[in-house]
Amino acid sequence: MLITFEGIEGCGKSTQAKLLHEFLAAHGYDAVLTREPGWGRLGELIRTLILEEREVELDPVSELCLFCADRAQHVKDFISPCLKDGKIVICDRYFDSTVVYQGYGRRLDMRFVNKAAKASTLGTVPELTFLLNLPVRKGLSRLRGRGDITKMDEEPLEFHELIRQGYMVVARREPERIIKINADRSVEDIHGDIKSIVLSRLS
Ligand code: TYD
Repeated sequence: MLITFEGIEGCGKSTQAKLLHEFLAAHGYDAVLTREPGWGRLGELIRTLILEEREVELDPVSELCLFCADRAQHVKDFISPCLKDGKIVICDRYFDSTVVYQGYGRRLDMRFVNKAAKASTLGTVPELTFLLNLPVRKGLSRLRGRGDITKMDEEPLEFHELIRQGYMVVARREPERIIKINADRSVEDIHGDIKSIVLSRLS
């Protein structure tokens, strides 16, 4: 089973992905935790190029292709083999991030972005996606306290608003798969909700 976490910057999804992984592992499930972008050697190179390299001003189409390249390799070399072995794969960001950031955020042609994002999954669609919903200002203020700011984090407030709205549109289209979680609560409360939803899907 593939479970993904999505949301704006600073929404707490990485913390929740980690907690879910720890919980499942502690209860005897064979679960692995991974993230995008940045798996493996290609992922590391792509991640640095997109998020840290300040000498190259990436065209949005180049950016889209790089995120998709990162994902296809991640699926082929890691996610797919893990799923074949019966593991639960928890992934911090996946193809919805591409649809939302490159489609709604960068305003690329939506049909093109959807096609590229879907293709980059090599047919591996998550069974469950948690969308951690938090007002943009709250997310960004949490980021400031964290320190490791990427190029994407530095985008203006309006960009992050587009991202949040984009996630809402995507979630409305697939209410069965994408579960919206109110992220403006304590870490424990959010984890509690996620845990019970996952357990009910597993049983
Ligand atoms: P990262 O430092 O991993 O932060 P986060 O905790 O927000 O995941 O940064 C990843 C950034 O890349 C984030 O701003 C979202 C962006 N992104 C895209 O624009 N498209 C994508 O397909 C993916 C996977 C991420």
